[in-house]
Amino acid sequence: MLKLGVLASGRGSNFQSIIDSIKTGYLPASVEVLITDNPDAYAIERAKNNNIPYLIMQPKEYSSRDEYYRKIAEELKSRSVELVILAGFMRVVKKPLIDAYPMRIMNIHPALLPSFPGLHGQAQAVQYGVKISGCTVHFVDEGVDTGPVIIQAAVPVYHDDTEETLSERILKQEHRIFPYAIKLFAEGRLEVQGRIVHIKDSDREDSLIINPPLE
Ligand code: GAR
Repeated sequence: MLKLGVLASGRGSNFQSIIDSIKTGYLPASVEVLITDNPDAYAIERAKNNNIPYLIMQPKEYSSRDEYYRKIAEELKSRSVELVILAGFMRVVKKPLIDAYPMRIMNIHPALLPSFPGLHGQAQAVQYGVKISGCTVHFVDEGVDTGPVIIQAAVPVYHDDTEETLSERILKQEHRIFPYAIKLFAEGRLEVQGRIVHIKDSDREDSLIINPPLE
């Protein structure tokens, strides 16, 4: 059983998809702790409902950002967490945590990286006018959404999409690919070489998404 530590700042629907995937037996893992930087995060309710211990840790309570992430790393290590999951954690993780968990921190981002990193990836895609966007699960390095890509899902962007409608379409795919990426890790099937993530024993299939569809 892979021991997970989840960091989340808000609603926590990705956190919930991980909890549900564990419950159905799809994901051979356990959530040892939820750490949130937001005392009002709905993710806390989800932890309570599922008897998952949680900690509220806010940067303002620590002398520096490095100290904050050092303390988070300590909490995770003290619970023997093996993989750290950023499930809507709206902060850039700093070196002390990355050094404690090299290629052992996964993030979900609501765009096809390297397009539209940072905040509001869905709004950026709508404003830019791209026809295809999606979501990305990647390992976390010291940059902003720059770490090695594990899996991506693409969705069409329609001319009348708003940030909300596109976010909803992308979120459905987030809830599919995040548990899958964690499962691959749990099964020891992810191998990182430089910035390339190799997935062992994966089937290849040629398929394509064209939007708008060709006539
Ligand atoms: C998700 O769409 C996630 O991709 C995004 O925040 C949302 C959290 O939703 N994360 C980022 O934008 C990270 N830069 P959730 O709290 O319901 O999982």
